[in-house]
Amino acid sequence: MPSPELASVDGVITPTPEARIPPGDDGLLRGDGVFEVIRLYQGRPFALVEHLDRMERSADAIELPIERAPLEAEIAAILAEYGKHEGQMRLVVTRGGRRLIFTENLPPLGGEVALATVRYSPTIILTGVKSLSYAANMQATRIAKAKGADEALLVRPDGIVLEAPTSTIFWVSPEGGLRTPSIGSGILESITRAKIVRELHVEEGEYPIEDLRGAREAFLASTVREAQPVSALDGRALPEVPGPRTQEVIEAFAGVLASELDPAPPAADPAEERS
Ligand SMILES: Cc1ncc(COP(=O)(O)O)c(C=O)c1O
Repeated sequence: MPSPELASVDGVITPTPEARIPPGDDGLLRGDGVFEVIRLYQGRPFALVEHLDRMERSADAIELPIERAPLEAEIAAILAEYGKHEGQMRLVVTRGGRRLIFTENLPPLGGEVALATVRYSPTIILTGVKSLSYAANMQATRIAKAKGADEALLVRPDGIVLEAPTSTIFWVSPEGGLRTPSIGSGILESITRAKIVRELHVEEGEYPIEDLRGAREAFLASTVREAQPVSALDGRALPEVPGPRTQEVIEAFAGVLASELDPAPPAADPAEERS
């Protein structure tokens, strides 16, 4: 069942198609701003504090002032209106000073994902920053789709594995160890990645793409995907989809969700009452 698509612009909540922001905002004109995407489980946000903390770090990196208190109040208001649905919540703060919050349906992702490598050079200034300038990430996905895959795997020009455009990559070494690129390779500090690294022993480093090509199993991790098995890399099928270590991560993440999901929003569900 689709969930309500609502937008809050500086605290004014409307259905998303009716929301308006001034077109002169540099958030739109130059991709100058920051964002976060938070998973909603039956209307309950997962890891909201971590996402707000990361948004503040991103904003600091591009010298964008953020007011956290009104943002938190507006999140509570839109979630109260949204009700108990499965979906995601997008937070945006623009250079023009707008605070935007959207509730969105989850993208259709399928059970597994085929990857194609795409050469990508971290930008240095924006590396690790969840800025609105995501056109390169979106283009990488289109390049991968043109090659017949579902998603891109970004690889540095020197052959070091980075991440997918909106998720982290993990794989299993021939010895059975879980591996993922280190943050210092030039990737985003993924919140899902941090939870997995906290729960299980994970080797972190700068790994050449050949290391991943020899893996028996791999998966992508993100807020929206959780842990999603990789079925193929550059047309070569992976032997185990999902493999035992991926299964172990899926179960560990389910445990994290069960213990850490933020408290339920208020019992009243105005979105249901209205319909
Ligand atoms: C570039 C990039 N890497 C990784 C991730 C996964 O991060 P998280 O687990 O915090 O969703 C994202 C999420 O949007 C991303 O944009």
